Amino acid sequence: MYTLTGLKLKNPTILAAGVLGTTGASLCRVAREGGAGAVVTKSIGPAPKTGHPNPSMIELDCGFLNAMGLPNPSYPGFLQELEFAKENSDAPVIASIFGGTPSEFSEVAEGLLPAKPDAFELNVSCPHAEGYGAAIGTNPCLVEAVTAAVKDVVNVPVWVKLTPNVADITCIGNAAESGGADAVVAINTVKGMAIDIESGYPVLGNRSGGLSGKAVKPVAVKCVYDLFTALEIPVIGVGGVSSWEDAVEMIMAGAAAVQVGSAVYDRLDIFSEIGKEIEAFLKRKGYSDIKKITGLAHEMV
Ligand code: DOR
Repeated sequence: MYTLTGLKLKNPTILAAGVLGTTGASLCRVAREGGAGAVVTKSIGPAPKTGHPNPSMIELDCGFLNAMGLPNPSYPGFLQELEFAKENSDAPVIASIFGGTPSEFSEVAEGLLPAKPDAFELNVSCPHAEGYGAAIGTNPCLVEAVTAAVKDVVNVPVWVKLTPNVADITCIGNAAESGGADAVVAINTVKGMAIDIESGYPVLGNRSGGLSGKAVKPVAVKCVYDLFTALEIPVIGVGGVSSWEDAVEMIMAGAAAVQVGSAVYDRLDIFSEIGKEIEAFLKRKGYSDIKKITGLAHEMV
């Protein structure tokens, strides 16, 4: 068992927000069949949102480019799904939420409290959602205010998911910590675009979007590495993890746990495999537990 912000996880892997997180049944499947240590929902907001026009997700050689646009049924519409997940999941269920202002964030958090999520993850980092996401997550004052507003109304851990699309992610991490965050999650997707050369049109319906998958792993590792030094609270690593080796790399950069997103589309049981292989790696190298390798790369000078 691993402890992360007071939550008990069977292994240090977590389903990332936005992937298979739109229904209670799919969240439970990732926890039970996939073996995830915890699961995060699709981001839920204050009002129903259809999202951006199709195509909203495309596969590239190096990962996925998406501009879903935070489609969701709003917190009243998601409550039953969250209740189902909580009743049937054998792993902690974290509610990912978004809003346009601190008070919208706290409204959504309060609205989901009846389902008793184990923690909240504040999405202040979607790169392509007008007025939401990065509009907040690139402004340290707003990040601190949003975090403090949610901390005021809930008594479960609050994680804050950060954008890599800033000059210095540690400034934003510091703001989340000042607002009372229990952990930060790094990173959300990296701004990107693809153009169809026959027509000249940008491929995504929204024109630009966010890149995830293999291509972003080195960006995520560097962000986690910098945040580990700058913050006291745990850093949860996410971005391009598709094997146990990637997970160990993220942990050596400073991650207390890793989230997996894009790689889930290849195989659901990636969580149990990463968990098992990390244990085998620790044993083979003679480390008594995962804390011994968390941030190890910082000691190698
Ligand atoms: O890349 C992303 N896409 N990041 C988010 O936070 C939300 C998602 C979407 O719904 O567009």
